[in-house]
Amino acid sequence: MFGRIAGRYDLANRLLSCGMDLSWRRRLVGAASRAKPGAILDLATGSGDVALALGRAISGAHVTGMDFCLPMLAQAEKKKAAAGDKAYPNVRFEPGDGLSLPLPDKTFDVVTIAFGLRNMADRHRSLTEMHRVLRPGGRLLVLEFSQPKPPFRALYLFYLRHILPILAGWITADRQAYVYLNKTIEDFPGPQKLSEEIVRAGFKTASAQRMTLGVVALHEAVS
Ligand SMILES: C[S@@+](CC[C@H](N)C(=O)[O-])C[C@H]1O[C@@H](n2cnc3c(N)ncnc32)[C@H](O)[C@@H]1O
Repeated sequence: MFGRIAGRYDLANRLLSCGMDLSWRRRLVGAASRAKPGAILDLATGSGDVALALGRAISGAHVTGMDFCLPMLAQAEKKKAAAGDKAYPNVRFEPGDGLSLPLPDKTFDVVTIAFGLRNMADRHRSLTEMHRVLRPGGRLLVLEFSQPKPPFRALYLFYLRHILPILAGWITADRQAYVYLNKTIEDFPGPQKLSEEIVRAGFKTASAQRMTLGVVALHEAVS
């Protein structure tokens, strides 16, 4: 499904979130920078926005952007190439499945995943894999849609169910993809429940910060 919408994915993100996705990703990159990492995995990297932003913000870190969708990775490589050979010497993109990462144990200081955990077919297994590839004391940062509280929730759900699929259909010519994506947003756990799931996957601590009235949350966990 992501292969079908890869070419229009960035444009859809910008328009459907009214540009707010940029500031959500900036918060994620800021939190990753504070950990002063040497090696970062950006899982479900998609078109590479987070991996490239991490490469820019933390020039001393090696960033691996990984995704199993080759057309999305092609978009990421295109952006990297457009910036010139020398712009991102510390960022590389690799294919790989988040449910069975082709990476050795205890390799990364930070794992980031933006709007990707929701799409993993088995959330517990992907969290366990992220825990496996983190060094002890390493950090997991999950940026994901969350559950806004009433009364704003009703307005938000109206936008998700009735307006967003129409707009997304115009932008990507694939309305069905966004009907599915909206369902994954509605079904996704709120901050408390997701923090508990993260701890069940082996992390020592997990906490969450809500953003934009709870539309999105940034989870931080220590392995
Ligand atoms: C909504 S996009 C997010 C892309 C990017 N992180 C961003 O911030 O825009 C979700 C991504 O998760 C990827 N994905 C879903 N399941 C995956 C898996 N099992 N392994 C690797 N990537 C996966 C999809 O291919 C897609 O690129």
